[in-house]
Amino acid sequence: MQIRIREKNCTIDKVDSGMEILRVIESQKKSETSVQFSNVHDAPTFWSAGDRVMEDAFPGFFTVAREKSRPIRSSVIRFFSRYFIQCRNEKDEVIGMLKAVPVRREKGSELWDDGYTGAMARAIDDLRFFRRPNCLVGLAIAVRKDFQGRGWANSIISQMKTTAEESGFESIAIPLRPTGAESEEHFAEYCLSTRGDGMPLDPWLRLHVRNGAVIRNFCARSMQFHGTIEEWEEWTDMDFPESGAYDVPGGIAKLRIDRKADSGSYIEPNVWVTYDLNPKKGMWKWFFWRLRSCIAINTLRRPKSFPQPER
Ligand SMILES: CC(C)(COP(=O)(O)OP(=O)(O)OC[C@H]1O[C@@H](n2cnc3c(N)ncnc32)[C@H](O)[C@@H]1OP(=O)(O)O)[C@@H](O)C(=O)NCCC(=O)NCCS
Repeated sequence: MQIRIREKNCTIDKVDSGMEILRVIESQKKSETSVQFSNVHDAPTFWSAGDRVMEDAFPGFFTVAREKSRPIRSSVIRFFSRYFIQCRNEKDEVIGMLKAVPVRREKGSELWDDGYTGAMARAIDDLRFFRRPNCLVGLAIAVRKDFQGRGWANSIISQMKTTAEESGFESIAIPLRPTGAESEEHFAEYCLSTRGDGMPLDPWLRLHVRNGAVIRNFCARSMQFHGTIEEWEEWTDMDFPESGAYDVPGGIAKLRIDRKADSGSYIEPNVWVTYDLNPKKGMWKWFFWRLRSCIAINTLRRPKSFPQPER
């Protein structure tokens, strides 16, 4: 029998024969030296592979339900493609992806209750009114399933910080979806649970804290997906014969079905974590690009029909 052990810098196969360590499978240092990063703006050819990594990493209904917010999503991709970052290995395979958007965050203000969903609306709104962004919001990070558990996320987090600093941002904020959270009832308690060494119990939160992130407030309405009952039955492959709250595969929150209104809403809590940065004075570089995008969004798109962020 083999037991896989994860240690800080490597993954080791151990054998119960007493021979101990068989071989070092993957070293984190190695993956860091062979990793390549590109963004969707400069390397659009890797976009679909990156998006597939995202789709596979999250619950299936996220992918189908998000199609309903296609107008705002396509604007986000179009205008913020510099912050959609693909991570490639030495074989040029996309094995990880980061999606982020720039927003304006007033110093010392509490982070928004509408977390993930609100960040996209906020980024578009800030662009539309030409507000200078100072914070990069990390919407999602995913690593391809067969590459998980080898330290790739660490490299993506480092790249996110570098990109944010080079873009002149003062902080990163992430409406984080703890990978081990299973229910909304115990969500807060779980996020605040620590191990014996004082580090968060949740591995994803722990990795961020280890990288210097600080846990802030909860965002109760971070991921919001709404649909008709028929849509939800299709998205989840389940039946919802009565109104009520249902567990859905991969969900942290419950899906709330209202048969009378023919609607289902999935509203998931997340927790904000932030990184303070040392911005390079690079914002001027983006001035003309942002000005052009601002003009484009105000003329080509119809932002008034997009969901408005809470201020
Ligand atoms: C979360 C995710 C990005 C982490 O990427 P990764 O490259 O596997 O991360 P690492 O190898 O650096 O591991 C990070 C921590 O998670 C733990 N971990 C990784 N895979 C795990 C798994 N399948 N089950 C439990 N813990 C796991 C590791 O042990 C490590 O914790 P530790 O070193 O403190 O013990 C990846 O698992 C993923 O894509 N998940 C699906 C998408 C998602 O939930 N993203 C986060 C929300 S935005």
